[in-house]
Amino acid sequence: MSEIGIGLFGLGTVGTGVVKILQENAEQIAKRTGTKMVVKHAVVHNVNKTRSGIINTFPITDNPKDILENDSIEIVVEVMGSIDAARDIIKRALNAKKHVVTANKDLIAIHGQELVRIAHDNGVDLYYEAAVAGGIPILRTLTSSFTADEISRVAGIINGTSNFILTQMAVNHLSYAQALQLAQDKGFAEADPTNDVEGFDAAYKLIILSNFAFGVQPVLGDVNIKGISDLTDTDIQDAHQLGFAIKLLGVAERVDNAISIEVAPHLVPLDHPLATVHNENNAVLVNGESVGEIILYGPGAGELPTANSVLSDLTNVATDLALNTSGRPFNSFNQDLPLAKPSQ
Ligand code: HSE
Repeated sequence: MSEIGIGLFGLGTVGTGVVKILQENAEQIAKRTGTKMVVKHAVVHNVNKTRSGIINTFPITDNPKDILENDSIEIVVEVMGSIDAARDIIKRALNAKKHVVTANKDLIAIHGQELVRIAHDNGVDLYYEAAVAGGIPILRTLTSSFTADEISRVAGIINGTSNFILTQMAVNHLSYAQALQLAQDKGFAEADPTNDVEGFDAAYKLIILSNFAFGVQPVLGDVNIKGISDLTDTDIQDAHQLGFAIKLLGVAERVDNAISIEVAPHLVPLDHPLATVHNENNAVLVNGESVGEIILYGPGAGELPTANSVLSDLTNVATDLALNTSGRPFNSFNQDLPLAKPSQ
């Protein structure tokens, strides 16, 4: 059985989850892909940090060259976050003809087009299923299941932190400040929660979704963005009395032959499936002309759900290597639809 060497940049929550699944499910992965995936090296910022006992079968250093110049490594997994450093690492990996799997939504939303071109030029894969909606396999669904259909809308709850806050305000009658504090205590929200509560995190994910659904290449300025930070518990309770939940939705849709992209709080009827998506969960609706409406629901973050999406990319690369089909496009950057002008 052929062996595939993996190099990991980052051993935080997702990186640790990737190692756990690779080690615990090694036999099943080998049976299903016909290849043995082995972590050969990890590169981290702080080599002295104490790490879980599961991570003791490969060397850990802080020198990127240990992966980028290691010929036994065919796939680079980037789960270290940040934009500039990750962009540099991924470019160097692709140019070294290594396949890359990343969970970095900000990076892909901003520099995805450039990185996809570099991957294509080098005949290698660049996959990033974990970048959008954590454990929900939405990108692969859009890639493989809508080839013959025409998507009219993709919409959903794609930020777990803001959904947690809104759920706590609605169900447990917490104030916005109390719900935010709880989200921070539980580790969902960062100390600076701006990206999550002001809609930027959802906007980055929606940029990637819009690309897959419609082939457009929006930038942040093309997205109408409104967050949840000025909602009060009275707003939430009043909406509930009238039969609605307030949910932060990302919506990208065809409007008059252009693509409109928006992140904003919406009134969702209480009997609609999106109203029943609670706490940190995510859900994405896709409307296709032939299929009608489908909904994918699941965990939008978390160690093992997000790591499972990374693993789905890794096993796809393994299949590509086995079939010698590397370099398949994982998006549709080549289409040309106009974007609606944002209203602000
Ligand atoms: N901060 C993100 C969220 C994590 O709350 O959904 C997953 O991207």
